Amino acid sequence: MNSFPTVFPASTAIPLRGGATLKWGVLGPGTIANTFVTTLHANSDQRMLGVGSRSLERASAFAAKHGIPNVYGSYEALVADPDIDVVYIAAPHSEHRDLALLALAAGKHVLVEKPIALSAAEAREIAAAATAAGLFAAEAMWTRFLPKSTVIRQLLDDGVLGDVRLTSAELSFKFGFDPEHRLYNRELGGGALLDLGVYPLSFIHFVMGAPDAVHASGSLCSTGVDEQAAITLEYAGGAQGFAATTVLASGSNGAVITGTSARIEVQPNFIAPGGFTLISADDERLDWHDEPSSGNFTEGLVWQAAAVAQHIADGRTEAPEHPMSTAIAVLETIDDARTQLGYPPR
Ligand SMILES: NC(=O)c1ccc[n+]([C@@H]2O[C@H](COP(=O)([O-])OP(=O)(O)OC[C@H]3O[C@@H](n4cnc5c(N)ncnc54)[C@H](OP(=O)(O)O)[C@@H]3O)[C@@H](O)[C@H]2O)c1
Repeated sequence: MNSFPTVFPASTAIPLRGGATLKWGVLGPGTIANTFVTTLHANSDQRMLGVGSRSLERASAFAAKHGIPNVYGSYEALVADPDIDVVYIAAPHSEHRDLALLALAAGKHVLVEKPIALSAAEAREIAAAATAAGLFAAEAMWTRFLPKSTVIRQLLDDGVLGDVRLTSAELSFKFGFDPEHRLYNRELGGGALLDLGVYPLSFIHFVMGAPDAVHASGSLCSTGVDEQAAITLEYAGGAQGFAATTVLASGSNGAVITGTSARIEVQPNFIAPGGFTLISADDERLDWHDEPSSGNFTEGLVWQAAAVAQHIADGRTEAPEHPMSTAIAVLETIDDARTQLGYPPR
């Protein structure tokens, strides 16, 4: 099917309420953990039952804020809690692999913040451990679980865009320079590509799959991590993807999928809840409007939690919206780009 539609297919996103529920634990109660638990409790039936921190004081403060009953002053103690089904890993990138392996070894399913690891090799270790244990593992690439992504997926699968020739996406936010902060600290896996570039690259992989070749240019800052990068992905037949990111300035942060029959313009910020427009080669237009229930920017993090709960209840060990093979392939692209920029993975 490649004629221009008059209506959009319905979202297939897993509903936020009324489905399976899990007892969650969180490791690393920092900024994103606070955002995640806030929307989890406000907008879904999921409940955070335990929090593990390197400091009992920090765990206690986080627990008091969010009404979390089980409080632990170590990550090891949290993963040993028999009441917890799934562990959300919200520590810096540099800790993701080891903490995922820790939780999996304790028999817990894992949802790991993006990027799931510092390299494709590390992500493969997580995938192998989850497979061996028969447990669920996914990267918290929350955009993939939003209602709009499920509609775009169907439009792509139905051939509405024709032959996709180009996918472009940017994610840029200005962050003040701080050599100790995880964004700039090499030991913590700093850099624009791992923190922000993972989103546009993941979007291109979602649309076009893994590329045949990667070309990267950009600049490193004084701590040796990339502060800006432009990445071109090459595909069979000359199709291309283009991703851009910088931490030196805030960008438009939109995304466009350009096909021979139609294109999709995703409203900024393309990573968050929001609309998009389908535009035919003859300039016919169809707007997709998100429901208010999808939430504001950060509330959108909740969709992945409802999906993870349902997948685990249904016996899946991966999220079809964003399987481990895709998370690994995106990191292969990032490994390649970082190597070209002079900041290869450890
Ligand atoms: N999905 C999104 O939109 C989004 C947004 C922002 C960040 N993230 C991701 O979430 C992860 C955490 O980012 P964040 O901004 O929340 O970081 P953050 O505010 O620094 O919090 C991370 C927490 O991890 C723990 N931690 C463990 N080892 C650490 C170490 N070596 N250095 C510092 N902290 C360490 C700390 O908690 P304790 O010491 O108390 O255990 C800390 O509070 C990153 O991987 C990032 O990419 C995702």
